[in-house]
Amino acid sequence: MTQNIVPIEKIEELHIELGYQCNIRCTMCYQKDYTISIDPVVWREKLAAIYPTVKKIIIQGGEPTVIKDTKELIELALAKNPEVKVSFMTNGLAFDSYWQDLFVKHGDFVNFSLNAADKETHEKINRYSKWEKVIENLKNTLALRKSTNSPLQVTISFVILPDNIKQMADYIELGKNLGVDKIRFFFDACNLEKDTKLVEQEISKALETAQKYEENLIVEGLLHFYEFYCQKLGVKNIYIEQKEKMACGMCRLPWTNIFVDHFGNLMFCCMTNLVLGNLLKEDLPAIFNNDKAVDFREKVLKNNYVYCMSNCTRNPSPVYKFDWVRFKYYFNNFFTYLKRDPKVAWQKAKRKIKQWL
Ligand SMILES: C[S@@+](CC[C@H](N)C(=O)[O-])C[C@H]1O[C@@H](n2cnc3c(N)ncnc32)[C@H](O)[C@@H]1O
Ligand code: SF4
Ligand code: SF4
Repeated sequence: MTQNIVPIEKIEELHIELGYQCNIRCTMCYQKDYTISIDPVVWREKLAAIYPTVKKIIIQGGEPTVIKDTKELIELALAKNPEVKVSFMTNGLAFDSYWQDLFVKHGDFVNFSLNAADKETHEKINRYSKWEKVIENLKNTLALRKSTNSPLQVTISFVILPDNIKQMADYIELGKNLGVDKIRFFFDACNLEKDTKLVEQEISKALETAQKYEENLIVEGLLHFYEFYCQKLGVKNIYIEQKEKMACGMCRLPWTNIFVDHFGNLMFCCMTNLVLGNLLKEDLPAIFNNDKAVDFREKVLKNNYVYCMSNCTRNPSPVYKFDWVRFKYYFNNFFTYLKRDPKVAWQKAKRKIKQWL
């Protein structure tokens, strides 16, 4: 079908994982080896053809502000396409005036990963971070956005953990006071609070607070977390009625997006585990329209999301059973890591098994 063969000029968004270097060590971080880097050939040469036409680039770390290739990649893309918009998630510690200036001029969004509503808890989770510095950088970004009338979207995110679960409502108040556009709640599936009554109580408080500000503050992820939590712990979901609100239409990403991981593997997004090909072995145009890519698009057109993670917020038909595609992806990665560093490979495997149990 011709609609499933897509020229690379139609790629609107590139999401690329440059490496895992970071200036802090969060307790829940799923990264285990902070030395990994992508081969620069991938972004300097293999992806060069799309820079003139791509609309957005999302850079993923590690911590993008301290990965040395981040600046060079952005400069390269901007030289070929001054209209391109860049985005990333940051721990905020080194999001200094250089990044603030760059983002108000060329940013689509910046997300500060602030994992608590107070200094003590934030610094306990984001080990080696400095609450005051992160808040200062966030406030300066918001002030510069205002004074320059920039369309940059500024968001904050919070990974729900037993250490911070009592702070969710306060966190929404904090986001409101700071003046961010959106709050995203994520969760660590390997580290869930065991007290189910406490979780129900804290989710209720957070949902109430979110509702209070719903006209000008977007709060995402609370119901998503709660649905997963209830399924995993066998608890009754008292917000099941509101699940409908999460429903979404067909996902367009297989026609418009690419995600490249630090191995050079190309996928349509970071929430699928189907590797279409590897940019160190093949060229982008061949991978973007190979049999796997076309089959993926055909399936999505038939509302079949077998290659997509069940917790993807864009997935309108999640499948909650054992997933062979995902298993194969982790299995292959396990052997790649094993050759590089067996300790890291086993740490990652243990995390995944804990997540599945
Ligand atoms: C791996 S970080 C990379 C970007 C950057 N270093 C940061 O922390 O924002 C991407 C996002 O994943 C979140 N995160 C880290 N560990 C997580 C986990 N175990 N489960 C869910 N989200 C996690 C972080 O808080 C951050 O918002
Ligand atoms: S700042 Fe991001 S990359 Fe660094 S340890 Fe924390 S979650 Fe991981
Ligand atoms: S539904 Fe989710 S996992 Fe599937 S392609 Fe869309 S964004 Fe990716």
